Amino acid sequence: MNVTIKTPAEQDKMRVAGRLAADVLDMIGEHVKAGVTTDQLNEICHEFITEKQEAIPAPLNYRGFPKSICTSVNHVVCHGIPGERTLKAGDAVNIDITVIKDGFHGDTSRMFFVGKPGIQAERLSEVARESMWLGIEQIAPGKHLGDVGEVIQKNVERNRFSVVREYCGHGIGRVFHEDPQVLHYGKAGTGFELRAGMTLTVEPMVNAGKRDVRLLPDGWTVVTKDHKLSAQWEHTILITDTGFEVLTLGANDR
Ligand code: MF3
Ligand code: CO
Ligand code: CO
Repeated sequence: MNVTIKTPAEQDKMRVAGRLAADVLDMIGEHVKAGVTTDQLNEICHEFITEKQEAIPAPLNYRGFPKSICTSVNHVVCHGIPGERTLKAGDAVNIDITVIKDGFHGDTSRMFFVGKPGIQAERLSEVARESMWLGIEQIAPGKHLGDVGEVIQKNVERNRFSVVREYCGHGIGRVFHEDPQVLHYGKAGTGFELRAGMTLTVEPMVNAGKRDVRLLPDGWTVVTKDHKLSAQWEHTILITDTGFEVLTLGANDR
């Protein structure tokens, strides 16, 4: 495994990239409303990232991904491609932003609702968010990735939802997706041991129904096999000497 430890100077660059990614999500919230297409959201974010932030939208052309952000609506689990789809009242959409600034990546996603969310969509989103935070709170030098995965899985399953297995969090830095893989399930005390200076993401995908997913023929869009709702939240984390620092806090988190 090729895990990188960031120097203090590199950690500062990760802080900047993380802040920029969070700023994009803070900016886009008010644009998520009935009648907007996911392509329009992509355009607004692309413009903001390239012109205002003078940063690079990491998804664009990443392994052939055609857009600058991911928009995953309702039963789309992740990697939804912005397009002509018009959002309507009751839709739940995950917007996933990754920017590159000064060579380093910041990666974060949140759920947004169009109008008033359905009761199940709201509960699913809350459980996904709470599970992400429980996982993050496990992070410290000497802890294992299984500690993170176990608390996430337990919280999700206690609420009778399911954890997607095929996609996971990841190390991040100069490279978008680097080692280690951060599974959102597992057994405490097992797996990779964390060290100060590592940066990684925690980004559980939580399904209302069964955990099984299917990849659409476009090669990117991941949907639930049973077409029930899915929700996801993501933060980029720095492991500090004493615990963790969240690099992608939004205005409402700080
Ligand atoms: N941002 C996603 C993640 O959290 C990855 C998106 S890859 C893309 O890891 F190509 F679909 F953009
Ligand atoms: Co990520
Ligand atoms: Co992401």
